[in-house]
Amino acid sequence: MYNVTLIPGDGIGPSIMEAAVRVLEATGVKFTWDKQIAGMTAYEADKTPLPQETIDSIHRTRIAFKGPLTTPVGTGFRSVNVALRQEFNLYANVRPAISFEGTRARFKNVNMVTIRENTEGLYSGMEHDILVEGQKVAAESIALITKVGSEKIIRFAFEYAKLHHRKKVTLVHKANILKATTGMFLEIGRAVANEYPDITFTDKIIDACAMHMVMDPDFFDIIVTTNLFGDILSDLAAGLVGGLGLTAGANIGKDAAIFEAVHGSAPDIAEKNIANPTAIIIAGVNMLEHLGEYEAAVRVERAVREVIREGIAVTPDLNPETHCGTQDMAEAIIRRLN
Ligand code: NAI
Ligand code: MG
Repeated sequence: MYNVTLIPGDGIGPSIMEAAVRVLEATGVKFTWDKQIAGMTAYEADKTPLPQETIDSIHRTRIAFKGPLTTPVGTGFRSVNVALRQEFNLYANVRPAISFEGTRARFKNVNMVTIRENTEGLYSGMEHDILVEGQKVAAESIALITKVGSEKIIRFAFEYAKLHHRKKVTLVHKANILKATTGMFLEIGRAVANEYPDITFTDKIIDACAMHMVMDPDFFDIIVTTNLFGDILSDLAAGLVGGLGLTAGANIGKDAAIFEAVHGSAPDIAEKNIANPTAIIIAGVNMLEHLGEYEAAVRVERAVREVIREGIAVTPDLNPETHCGTQDMAEAIIRRLN
């Protein structure tokens, strides 16, 4: 029995989360869901997008399954996702991008995982304006990269490779220009790589890497990189396999982990019962793996892939000719599980 904080989220959140919870429960793995609110739903109820009760719940359960959140605009609140990363020191952002047969994605054989440092770099939050006689003439954002943080994320990438039987880690940097920060990141990468002789280590400069990913995505297995580069490359990787509705991400720290879809709350299609539940169900697969429920994880992923390959019980974003809703797709996946 696993205690998990369940945050249904905003917009399409409640509907896709209902679908995902049904699929996860159909595996036979037992969950107790501690249901909490965040985002717009919480802001409307409590005037805060991240209530203390929700934070307390994650401190207790140490694992959250989270729907997309709408960040209230113009209220002075920072992004809930950033706040959660900081509160729980979720230093690793893990995003698999694996092709699905039966989609119109540009590439067929993509199978890569982006592992992004999630708390440092240019997103450390150290920014200020530079004023001359009261006028803003410049601005500065500081990229803080620590040795400890770098070693932690790079080691995480190699351990992830070992656990998931992956063969190659590519470290992405800009060490030719940003010598002090990403140069150090690369140096640490080379040192850590020596401890993992069974895993191939390569490095790439960010701009060349972006081109290489689009020209020849088969080259990549695991990418490990700093915060800003990882933010961009993980979206690029999601695009290679057909985009938002299909990719999931995990935010992982020493004391907690949060599993979610890559997409947002999609207000344009909320309440229409057409949201694709795949991304959040794949987030559920990643959560099952994190819990050590490997057999259930494999069964769910296989069922999702079969349903998408057949292309019948899928939402209209995957096949505009079907009239299949979010819950219908979940049911088709559940039938395939058994
Ligand atoms: P979005 O990802 O919600 O939507 C972009 C487009 O993709 C829309 O046309 C939408 O209909 C479509 N789409 C997204 N998910 C889909 C699904 N599962 N099935 C079918 N189509 C889907 O991005 P947008 O519109 O920029 O953001 C909406 C809200 O979500 C904003 O408030 C934003 O801040 C928030 N957001 C939250 C995230 C999170 O909680 N992790 C991540 C990204 C955005
Ligand atoms: Mg991003």
